[in-house]
Amino acid sequence: MASASASEPLPRTAGEMLRMGREFLARKGVAEARLDAELLVAHALGCDRLHLFLDLERPLTADELARGRELLARRGKREPVAYLTGNREFYGRVFHVNASVLIPRSETELLVDLARASVRERALAAPRILDVGTGSGVLALTLALELPGSRVTAVDLSAAALTVARANAERLGGAAREVVFLEADGGLPARSSGPFDLLVSNPPYVAREVQGSLSPEVRDHEPALALFAPAGDPHHWVRRLLAEADELLAPGGVLLVELGHDQGDEALRLAGDRPARVHRDLARLPRVLEVRRP
Ligand SMILES: C[S@@+](CC[C@H](N)C(=O)[O-])C[C@H]1O[C@@H](n2cnc3c(N)ncnc32)[C@H](O)[C@@H]1O
Repeated sequence: MASASASEPLPRTAGEMLRMGREFLARKGVAEARLDAELLVAHALGCDRLHLFLDLERPLTADELARGRELLARRGKREPVAYLTGNREFYGRVFHVNASVLIPRSETELLVDLARASVRERALAAPRILDVGTGSGVLALTLALELPGSRVTAVDLSAAALTVARANAERLGGAAREVVFLEADGGLPARSSGPFDLLVSNPPYVAREVQGSLSPEVRDHEPALALFAPAGDPHHWVRRLLAEADELLAPGGVLLVELGHDQGDEALRLAGDRPARVHRDLARLPRVLEVRRP
């Protein structure tokens, strides 16, 4: 509907907008056309999906019609739903996102599970945690909230990303508001808040060479700084974080780094003789490198 011919009638009810939106997105090649139309029409109407279905005959106001058409048109141009609604759920909490930050992925929740297990195993009452490349703040803020008593520092090179992370800290409240954010290149500038018991990072690890194979949602809309490793070196961040961890971690401290699905073997090789292992995700793909400082 959003870019339909002038002869196509405009939807008059929520149900009509839903059906026309779904058909429009399917024509545009959007994989989850039905779900996305539901999310966007609900967002345009200021309700959730359940309430949308409870009153499909509801007539649309002029504002709702305009909002819905704009959201669907932008989705048709493959803007991700999370940027259009401004929200994404991670580890059971809603985070604000915009085009300055990576959209948090469910795969990254494994890193939170491992971080929690590592703190529990060592019976640390007040773990000092550093998150390098915090983006929307999902790792730093989730750990602050899941690990009461922790002292969390979060670093990002992008001032715009830090604005999003700070807003999320305010919205989430409680221990999230205690997280210290720092605009910096890599983890070393956070040295004065350490030494750390845990260093976590989901760094930019996509090789620029595979850019062409990414979906338009990722390639054309998510920030390059958040996606791509420096040209020609997809293992840059593993190498760099291993070196930084040697300086930043307390004895017995642990480094957890998210990996690309094909980076497990090289990550272990780069860890050298440090005690290290690679954890697999639910799809059995190598996902997180764990290294312990002796
Ligand atoms: C893959 S995103 C991860 C964001 C978030 N932690 C998550 O898991 O959703 C990587 C983040 O690293 C940041 N970044 C890139 N280069 C950096 C650098 N040299 N120093 C600090 N942060 C950097 C990017 O701005 C981006 O926010």
